[in-house]
Amino acid sequence: MAVEIEQNPSVGLSKVAVSDTHGEDSPYFAGWKAYDEDPYDESCNPDGVIQMGLAENQVSFDLLEEYLEKHSEAANFGNKISSFRENALFQDYHGLLSFRKAMASFMEQIRGGRAKFNPDRIVITAGATAANELLTFILADPGDALLVPTPYYPGFDRDLRWRTGVQIIPVHCDSSNNFQITPQALESAYADAQSRNIKVKGVLITNPSNPLGATIQKSILEDILDFVTRKNIHLVSDEIYSGSAFFSDEFVSIAEVLESRNYKDSERVHIVYSLSKDLGLPGFRVGTIYSYNDKVVTTARRMSSFTLISSQTQQLLASMLSDKSFTENYIRTNRKRLKRRYHMIIDGLRNAGIECLQGNAGLFCWMNLSPLLEKPTRESELALWKSILYEVKLNISPGSSCHCSEPGWFRVCFANMSERTLEIALQRIHDFMGRRDAM
Ligand SMILES: Cc1ncc(COP(=O)(O)O)c(C=O)c1O
Repeated sequence: MAVEIEQNPSVGLSKVAVSDTHGEDSPYFAGWKAYDEDPYDESCNPDGVIQMGLAENQVSFDLLEEYLEKHSEAANFGNKISSFRENALFQDYHGLLSFRKAMASFMEQIRGGRAKFNPDRIVITAGATAANELLTFILADPGDALLVPTPYYPGFDRDLRWRTGVQIIPVHCDSSNNFQITPQALESAYADAQSRNIKVKGVLITNPSNPLGATIQKSILEDILDFVTRKNIHLVSDEIYSGSAFFSDEFVSIAEVLESRNYKDSERVHIVYSLSKDLGLPGFRVGTIYSYNDKVVTTARRMSSFTLISSQTQQLLASMLSDKSFTENYIRTNRKRLKRRYHMIIDGLRNAGIECLQGNAGLFCWMNLSPLLEKPTRESELALWKSILYEVKLNISPGSSCHCSEPGWFRVCFANMSERTLEIALQRIHDFMGRRDAM
């Protein structure tokens, strides 16, 4: 029987504990709760909520499972007791060299060999969540700010702000140029911070972008790099979706831009990566910081003591990622399958009369429902979101939860379910639009 513990509200907690910068009171998380209470299941709960608010990649699990079946030794310390003992005692925050080498080479492969990564600059972290927070701790002091282009991943409100005390100043992007980041938008966010006496320490971009599902063009990356150099601040490039670009050469990493500039000003640039999206392994908690700044590498490594990856996981992934024939096939097949899903969803939405931003990457599309809003306001967007969640039984994420300044846009995930479930979701949207037209 559970023990009931009387709660004494007079016992105080820290400022961090009671602050509301955890970011969990957003519709992004409320939608997940509605799904948890009534989850769709084809046979047991066919009228339940379909989860389209979760950027998970399940389309290539069969390839991972096949690898593990063929290479049981990878997960089993090479079937040797001596390896078990070595692993059990391994706690060096540098991480296994074999893992860092495999990770560096996987990151190069995803970039089609157009960028090089030195395993000695790879800092291991428990996912990109920890990597982003850790970098924020290193680059900024409490009260300082990072500029983050909108719409952005709702988790940043927690990851960059909660424990660090750092603020996010939004760089507002809009549909007039397909939500691309411009030097004017960066300047205007910077001026906003200055007018409020807030020190800006860096810009954090996500490339390919979550939630837009689009890669950032090289010329825009050049503009951003010029901007951070002019202001003498940092640039963090979260490239967690790099392997999900449908065509390898449509994704340009900041690493390639630095290489083309002979690494000039590279000490202000830091890349975040994880295997949560490209390999679909968020539960393994495998992330990295790749910094071109020696001091950041050393400090991040020291701080990574709080958020390491277990040696067993490093060992398994070192084997898997150093198997070139597996990784080549995986990267190619996964891109192809994501592209197929993307076309399936945008064609289905178009048939229902809905347009999406032109995407070329990611596990989601950016859907425009602004013509359905009663008024062009956040309140109307949330009213529409509620009717889609409770009537249509689809959990999608409203743009306002991503700080989008233009109401009516929604992020819709398509890789965390079977094609059959996706078809049912599309049918529900189609019927919903039909009912509205008939009104
Ligand atoms: C842009 C971005 N960064 C970081 C994360 C967190 O990833 P991880 O599971 O590796 O902590 C996510 C997850 O959705 C994300 O979309």
